[in-house]
Amino acid sequence: MKILIIGKGFIGRKCAQMWPEAEVADTKIFSREDAFNLLDKYTPDVILNAAGVRGKPNVDWCETHQIETIEGNTIMPLFLAEACTTKNIYLLHVGSGCIFYGPSPDPKGWKEDDFGNPKAVYSRAKWATDLCLSTLPNVAIARIRMPIDYVPSAENLITKLASFSKVIDVENSVTVVEDMVNAFYQLLNLQASGIFHVTNPGTIKHKEILALYEKYVDPSHKNEWITDKDLVNLGLAKKERSNNFLQSDNLSKLKIKMRPIKEAMEDTMVRYAKLYKPAIEKSY
Ligand SMILES: NC(=O)c1ccc[n+]([C@@H]2O[C@H](COP(=O)([O-])OP(=O)(O)OC[C@H]3O[C@@H](n4cnc5c(N)ncnc54)[C@H](OP(=O)(O)O)[C@@H]3O)[C@@H](O)[C@H]2O)c1
Repeated sequence: MKILIIGKGFIGRKCAQMWPEAEVADTKIFSREDAFNLLDKYTPDVILNAAGVRGKPNVDWCETHQIETIEGNTIMPLFLAEACTTKNIYLLHVGSGCIFYGPSPDPKGWKEDDFGNPKAVYSRAKWATDLCLSTLPNVAIARIRMPIDYVPSAENLITKLASFSKVIDVENSVTVVEDMVNAFYQLLNLQASGIFHVTNPGTIKHKEILALYEKYVDPSHKNEWITDKDLVNLGLAKKERSNNFLQSDNLSKLKIKMRPIKEAMEDTMVRYAKLYKPAIEKSY
């Protein structure tokens, strides 16, 4: 299987590290022509689109950079989907579970085919793409949430939560990166189409994550707990963040497994502790 990864950011790099045979696109896509040229250059069997614009230092950036957000998260994937559909190349597009806000119609969680209720500019742009791509026959959308990794980094939920003095007391579906990379590979291999919630079974509270952090990484860690409404009211964020539980039946139907979140989280934290360097952590 000849894999082409588009996007050299956090997710693209993680996949490239675990799939040494994969190629990583060396140019960006700003037009239909760029998308077709890229496919002609690499002639892949399958593509992982791990490119996107999620805002730096955080997603609030997208509120004031709407056009860049729409270009990177909506227009670019549509160019790519058109080129892939024309050339009959399978496309796995990395979506986001943050298109869902709050309680789901089914108490067990949001289903893959539920309609999104996005609020922030970023999540609206991601949902717009899901709507367009979700019915194409040779395309899949893999929605991930709040990536958790054993390697400390600014993109890792563990590192982020540990760096905040005030943390929202919420519970979510989340994605452990190693399990995600494995699930992506299987989806590419099967060329499965449709929407997939690439999240670990079960949900986890920020409080549970930081309790494990204090147990295995830094017993002296302290933070204040606030509500998700406080986040905006205290001026710590411009827009309310998405918190939700996702169901993941479509992965299960394909027998693609991710570890239960409590098990995966503890294992990840133990390994995170081994790589943790206080000086680097505190400087983030
Ligand atoms: N990380 C998360 O928390 C998270 C959660 C849910 C979903 N996702 C989704 O996962 C995907 C990857 O996210 P990430 O965390 O890896 O983001 P990232 O670290 O910001 O990387 C995104 C990459 O996409 C590239 N890119 C942007 N516009 C492009 C274009 N027009 N053509 C080609 N490449 C382009 C960026 O290049 P430059 O840096 O040069 O601009 C960057 O290398 C995104 O679709 C994001 O929405 C991420």
